[in-house]
Amino acid sequence: MNYSEKVMDHFTNPRNVGEIPDADGIGEVGNAKCGDIMKMYLKIDGDTITDVKFKTFGCGAAVATSSMATEMIKGKTIDDALKLTNKAVMEALDGLPPVKVHCSVLAEEAVKAALSDYYTKQGVDPKLIIGEIPSCEECHEHD
Ligand code: FES
Repeated sequence: MNYSEKVMDHFTNPRNVGEIPDADGIGEVGNAKCGDIMKMYLKIDGDTITDVKFKTFGCGAAVATSSMATEMIKGKTIDDALKLTNKAVMEALDGLPPVKVHCSVLAEEAVKAALSDYYTKQGVDPKLIIGEIPSCEECHEHD
């Protein structure tokens, strides 16, 4: 498998690994295809994401994409985080091998799931803001 240098860097030295005990939003998502799991913790102040941590029981590409995703939303607004797509994360990592694209979807889903949890805790229906959390088409294609 050919991984870019950036993927290898984020895989061997992932950023923002861990938990936030008093997180404002926690999202847990699983990949139906491989059974990998990702958990994302957000600390939110006003509309800014002040801290992000993640834990994953997943493959190398899942570790690298979640690491990059946390870097891309840290210090950003909720609106920016909601616009983060798995494609943007992959581009920031200089690409992923096609069979690993579905792993990057886990990172996007985890961010959205954590924001959804945040809105639910605020008493706001997250579907109004986030919509349905995207599911991984790729995974079903490869089933
Ligand atoms: Fe499961 Fe990559 S193979 S997330």
